[in-house]
Amino acid sequence: MNDRTFRAADAHRLEEPERLKWLPPDEIMARTGPVSGMTIADIGTGTGYFALPFANAVGRAGKVLAVDFQKEMLEILRRKLSASGAPQNLVIVEGEAARTTLPANSCDLVFMSNLWHELDDDAGVLREVKRLLRPGGRLAILDWRADLVFPPGPPVAHRVSLETLRQVLSVHGWTVTHAEHVGMYSYLIIAVLPVI
Ligand SMILES: C[S@@+](CC[C@H](N)C(=O)[O-])C[C@H]1O[C@@H](n2cnc3c(N)ncnc32)[C@H](O)[C@@H]1O
Repeated sequence: MNDRTFRAADAHRLEEPERLKWLPPDEIMARTGPVSGMTIADIGTGTGYFALPFANAVGRAGKVLAVDFQKEMLEILRRKLSASGAPQNLVIVEGEAARTTLPANSCDLVFMSNLWHELDDDAGVLREVKRLLRPGGRLAILDWRADLVFPPGPPVAHRVSLETLRQVLSVHGWTVTHAEHVGMYSYLIIAVLPVI
């Protein structure tokens, strides 16, 4: 935890119906590429705003591993999963982004929404993502635009611009295949590692 960590006491803000208008999960998922049958790790899942739609999108042959280090967030997601009709292919994992405890080579897509600007250990997290991804797997990072200075979202000083993130990924050996503004206040970057 640090001063940028989104507090579980504010979890209701992740669930506001308005959010579906300015950050529609379908619009974001359409850009992460086909996911049917895949295993996706949603790191920093919070209350599962993306993990639940992803679990429906991957279908019965796929799986979503919903990772967060705040028990309270995961408890909210657990309650949602107990509702009738909730997807059965979502696994809750209490873990830290740089040490998820997930098996190596287990994921086709690692997704992070509004997590990147909260991280302390970029290099450690990218190492962990590399460990988790199967050859040809993708990393998708959604975060707040730094060029829009009004709410909603974290203080501007906490935000990481799309260009800065692109550079960080490149320094760590990732190739950015996709970078664009999405929703009303966010950007999405998709990156891959060279397949050796
Ligand atoms: C702003 S919330 C976003 C939640 C969700 N991804 C969404 O878009 O609705 C960020 C989440 O990342 C989690 N988080 C922050 N740093 C983390 C870390 N180092 N490891 C695991 N989870 C982390 C927080 O607990 C919080 O639930």
